[in-house]
Amino acid sequence: MRQGREVWATRTGLILAMAGNAVGLGNFLRFPSVAARNGGGAFMIPYFVALLLVGIPLMWVEWSMGRLGGRLGSGTTPRIFQHLWQHPLARYLGGLGIAIPLVFCVYYTYIESWTLAFAYFSATGMYWGLTDQSGMGGFLHAYQGFTQSENSGSLFYAYVFMAITLAANLYILAKGVVRGIERLAKIAMPVLLLFAVILVVRVFTLGAPDPALPDQTPMAGLAFLWEPDFSRLSEARVWLAAAGQIFFTLSVGLGTIVTYASYLKEKDDIVLSGLTTASTNEFAEVILGGCLAIPIAVAFFGTVQTIAIAEGGMFDLGFQTMPIIFQQLPLGQILATMWFLLLFFAGITSSSALAMPAVSFLQDEFDWTRRKAVTAVGVSICILVQPIILFLEFGFLDEVDFWIGAFGITLFAALEIVLFAWVFGMGKGWKEINMGADIRLPRFFYYVIKYVTPVFLLTIFAAWTYQEGKPRILMENVEPENRPYLWMARGLVLVVILVVFWLIHKAWARRQARAGGEA
Ligand code: ALA
Repeated sequence: MRQGREVWATRTGLILAMAGNAVGLGNFLRFPSVAARNGGGAFMIPYFVALLLVGIPLMWVEWSMGRLGGRLGSGTTPRIFQHLWQHPLARYLGGLGIAIPLVFCVYYTYIESWTLAFAYFSATGMYWGLTDQSGMGGFLHAYQGFTQSENSGSLFYAYVFMAITLAANLYILAKGVVRGIERLAKIAMPVLLLFAVILVVRVFTLGAPDPALPDQTPMAGLAFLWEPDFSRLSEARVWLAAAGQIFFTLSVGLGTIVTYASYLKEKDDIVLSGLTTASTNEFAEVILGGCLAIPIAVAFFGTVQTIAIAEGGMFDLGFQTMPIIFQQLPLGQILATMWFLLLFFAGITSSSALAMPAVSFLQDEFDWTRRKAVTAVGVSICILVQPIILFLEFGFLDEVDFWIGAFGITLFAALEIVLFAWVFGMGKGWKEINMGADIRLPRFFYYVIKYVTPVFLLTIFAAWTYQEGKPRILMENVEPENRPYLWMARGLVLVVILVVFWLIHKAWARRQARAGGEA
């Protein structure tokens, strides 16, 4: 096992890197869409319940498992799960903590590359003049290769910007934890916060864009999001969406927080730092993210149409509606560029985190150099992204996102909490969490982590599988001609998992052979 693993250089750098890991496209693109689709104020109640009962407890559990892994000389869950549960199955279950973030990283990086492309298109005015949803939608689809167009068709730009984005990610990873990830976070996080604040100020100085509709203002958008609506609390769908958003936005159930925490020192605090990470993410999501896409869309299009846009597609608010609105504002080109750069900075601090479990696994378990591990991960991403780019219009990305970004992370989060609180044992787990803590965790959370989080998670998982899983598994709502592509998407996920299992098998065999040789 590799000696002398890196450790975070500064506490500020660590917190910013962890916050960068969590703050991402989820905060500014996914959150407004999911909130609008699920009734705004109706969504926010389950959202905060899930944050308190699942999100924050899982954050502490993952920090704690990661720091423990660092002590074992490993930043990934095969070794950590094996420590929590001395059963051969444990390490293979832990393999999901490498496969899930790797596949996530592939399609996340691709979407991140769209934000860079759209920053460029905004700065150069390439879509200027396309002032309605169908015009902007056509531009986006041409970029994505669905249709041909003079400007952005044929996937040329999609490949160029994917190449630039991937190269930037690999460069950061190759520089390592301190000189790469920590340094990036120290630059990207303040820049993205600055851009977000400027845009929020601009949104709230708009007033009513249409004098004929004086009530249609950004404040009406805020009211839609924040006025509690208790009427929909009985809908399981809203609870599922809220829990799913919490996992996605906090990056829990993904393995990335675990890997980052493995670069902590043995006695570093995790209670306060974990809480600070979650709070920073929530500030970026509900305060900044909540003050951008929804209020501005409501001001220009009204609440009903904003909901309809969000229901049309996860990216429609961000990539179609926002550019249309910016075209109607003074200095719109600058504001639009800022919006997409904000998304890019948020994205890159998360995508580099998503690649880290795979990099760390190859370094820790196979003694590979960082450069070799990063190259292998980079080549894998290049290969795996091909069908995602080429078959996007057939629902390939959505299918992978369901199995990884919804089903996979919920399943993995459930595994983590059960292994930690029940197999390892909450007594030992509690000591582990509180070791070196700057603030003592209230005893209340002992019971939350032991009982409430697992029950909540398993219920969510069962309900999710029952409600969304069945039509999904049977491809009930899919056009027959698209089904082969979705089977390929499932095949891709399965192949990655099997390759990771095979690597785990090799790593353990290698370790045993060494131990035999030394004996
Ligand atoms: N947590 C990351 C995001 O919100 C993955 O985008």
